[in-house]
Amino acid sequence: MTDAQQLERTLVLVKPDGVARGLVGEVLGRIERKGYRLEAIELRMATRELLAEHYHEHRRKPFYEPLVEFMLSGPIIAVVASGDRVIEGFRSLAGATDPTAAAPGTIRGDLARDWGVGVTKNIVHGSDSRESAEREIALWFPGL
Ligand code: RTP
Ligand code: MG
Repeated sequence: MTDAQQLERTLVLVKPDGVARGLVGEVLGRIERKGYRLEAIELRMATRELLAEHYHEHRRKPFYEPLVEFMLSGPIIAVVASGDRVIEGFRSLAGATDPTAAAPGTIRGDLARDWGVGVTKNIVHGSDSRESAEREIALWFPGL
């Protein structure tokens, strides 16, 4: 694989819990300090329609409805970041989905915890493959 083929973009979301807790600067700072480039940033409310597309793969899972309600509970920061292997790199910065199990040093491991309410409030989303990244970037930033 050549260097050019490794240059990627990913969609990061600071979820409503991260925005409400004032962690936007902390998350963006970690992305910047790691060396990735911020290509676009927008504060916005999601819509049910946008989330239905964004979380299409989870539509039949038991956590889908509570997840959508949580994602509609307040503003979100949508970000496009770029860099070589940024998709894998940001997932590594974010840590495991379950914030109780996420390793210290990661965003979720350092800054999130379980709240016993059946919704995984884990501060960030990051695309999980090139295909998802391009699909998600087109959804959140049409034309970028
Ligand atoms: P994300 O898509 O947000 O980057 O997170 P992920 O890949 O680590 O996790 P994924 O399996 O894609 O799940 C998407 C989001 O749904 C919530 N979730 N809750 N209660 C549960 O069992 C459960 N499982 C997933 C989390 O907010 C997760 O990030
Ligand atoms: Mg995911």
